[in-house]
Amino acid sequence: MLAGSALSSVLAVVLVFALPAKAAPQQMMRRSTPELSLTAQLQIADTAIGRYQLLPTDEDFVYDFTKSKTPFANRKTFPALVGSGTSFSVGQLPACSMAYLHLHPRATELFVLNSGRVLTQMVPEVGVLDSKGKQRVIHTELGPGMMTIFPAGSFHTQVNPDCGPANFTAALSSEDFGIGLVAEQVFSLSDDVIAATFGQSIAGEDIDKVRRAIPGEVVIKVEECLRKCGKQKRHA
Ligand SMILES: *[C@@H]1O[C@H](CO)[C@@H](O)[C@H](O)[C@H]1NC(C)=O
Repeated sequence: MLAGSALSSVLAVVLVFALPAKAAPQQMMRRSTPELSLTAQLQIADTAIGRYQLLPTDEDFVYDFTKSKTPFANRKTFPALVGSGTSFSVGQLPACSMAYLHLHPRATELFVLNSGRVLTQMVPEVGVLDSKGKQRVIHTELGPGMMTIFPAGSFHTQVNPDCGPANFTAALSSEDFGIGLVAEQVFSLSDDVIAATFGQSIAGEDIDKVRRAIPGEVVIKVEECLRKCGKQKRHA
């Protein structure tokens, strides 16, 4: 009896304190909901049906690469992608340019060339070896209508070695593919870590020189090609 009434008073206390505590986060949610971006609202929608209700017009399902300031559609720039697990990029590699060595932490990329010519290099994960037992590097040469794959996390770069632009499209297997810039990010580490990482190959006093020499652009002009095409290197 005693134990029973003690238990029920404990329960009553728990309920009294639990109820307002439970109600508070819900009220906070309701208050903050209008401030959530459309992408955030789509992400917390209960069902796919709820997502369609948040995208009421047909235009919500169109992304115009010719008008958009961002050359890629991810779930932030194109909210209709929420729930699809994909994103898309349309771009142009100018004559004699190389895309920064990069990786996508959350996405595999299917890279399709639409015009021009592009040389790609891709470094897969550790343990993928060539016939000599060295790290395998996959080189491709793409013409119009050709595609290659850059698996998620692989280092890759694209070079346009010709005197005209090369247009590409790329599908990515994440709504939020992300970009890692290999050289720039490695050299953001402290000098002692870089010295230990590169061993004797970079003298301590040269680390800053290398750091400053890494171009801060998305595409790097390729000198040899510029000479071939009679173009001037543009300095940023
Ligand atoms: C390449 O893309 C540019 C910009 O989107 C476009 O103006 C041009 O017509 C395209 N070139 C080819 C050959 O498709």
